[in-house]
Amino acid sequence: MSELFRAFRIHRDDKTVSGRLESLTLADLTPGEVVVRVEYSSINYKDALAATGAGRILRSFPLVGGIDLAGEVVTSDTASFAPGQKVAAVGAELSETRDGGYAEFARLDAGMLEPLPNALDTRSAMAIGTAGFAAAVAVHRLELNGQRPEHGPIVVTGATGGVGSLAIDILATRGYEVVALTGKSESKAYLESLGASEVIDRTSLTLGDRPLESARWGGAIDNLGGDVLAWLTRTTKPWGNIASVGLAASPKLETTVMPFILRAVSLLGVNMEVGPKLRAEIWQRLATDLKPGHLDAIVTREVSLEELPACFAGYLDAAEVGRTVVKIG
Ligand SMILES: NC(=O)c1ccc[n+]([C@@H]2O[C@H](COP(=O)([O-])OP(=O)(O)OC[C@H]3O[C@@H](n4cnc5c(N)ncnc54)[C@H](OP(=O)(O)O)[C@@H]3O)[C@@H](O)[C@H]2O)c1
Repeated sequence: MSELFRAFRIHRDDKTVSGRLESLTLADLTPGEVVVRVEYSSINYKDALAATGAGRILRSFPLVGGIDLAGEVVTSDTASFAPGQKVAAVGAELSETRDGGYAEFARLDAGMLEPLPNALDTRSAMAIGTAGFAAAVAVHRLELNGQRPEHGPIVVTGATGGVGSLAIDILATRGYEVVALTGKSESKAYLESLGASEVIDRTSLTLGDRPLESARWGGAIDNLGGDVLAWLTRTTKPWGNIASVGLAASPKLETTVMPFILRAVSLLGVNMEVGPKLRAEIWQRLATDLKPGHLDAIVTREVSLEELPACFAGYLDAAEVGRTVVKIG
């Protein structure tokens, strides 16, 4: 196929990183065994960092942006995938070491792709995307470590963001009492519509500085890091679990060992490098028992490739609410 197609490609000219729409052919893309016609992608915080150069995400230039994609297999050099199959890729180093999902076609190796469960169409898969996959891994890890609804409320920080919104939805749908911590008090109704039973304004928080504060939370999913994560360690109940997903506020964590020793609190890491077995299991669970119940409310915007470049600034300013899906095909 030598036809031209549209792509949002990120360049580094001198020391300035910027992205633009271009026409490419398949031969311009990172090689791979499977050619996918991309139907949808999405915008994550990391995409905004990558496209603007605000964070060092790309390890070579130029690359097509977009850490997520979902679409249909066009050709396949491997028996694992067949033309016509619906697939998705998240956490596959797209827009880091290889071309990503902001293009009408992608070439990927079989190990980077997941066949979509029948219950998930490509748009729903991208409404979930990296954000929802990370939220599901966080819930999976909390529960593997014994977390149950009867242990008390789960705090979700960075609540209006992609990971936060999906974490609230998945937890509430699963029967947890969910407390949303947000910097956007005006989004209270949105967070309650996803299932949050309480919304706390982050600016009104008294973080305290004692090694242990009054224990209030059964557990937490944290997207912020820094002082808020430290506060979570001090305020989680005995045997509670905190999943550390993000660093939207800070990569630092200053706390003491007291929550771990005196309350047996666990701090659990989350990343996207889960291996093929767990990756398939998480996608399957996202279509069944971890299926978000409010995806329509969480997708606050659908944009075209042409509209995409104007969308990144809002992510860097923490101004966005919910998820943006990018319609590609
Ligand atoms: N570990 C992993 O595998 C993994 C996977 C996906 C994402 N992440 C990370 O998880 C975090 C959330 O990702 P996302 O895609 O959900 O991002 P997002 O959609 O941009 O949401 C981030 C949210 O965090 C809050 N926030 C942002 N900047 C802040 C600041 N300076 N101080 C305090 N709060 C701030 C805001 O929510 P409120 O206004 O509601 O507080 C914002 O909406 C990011 O750090 C991302 O890199 C990690």
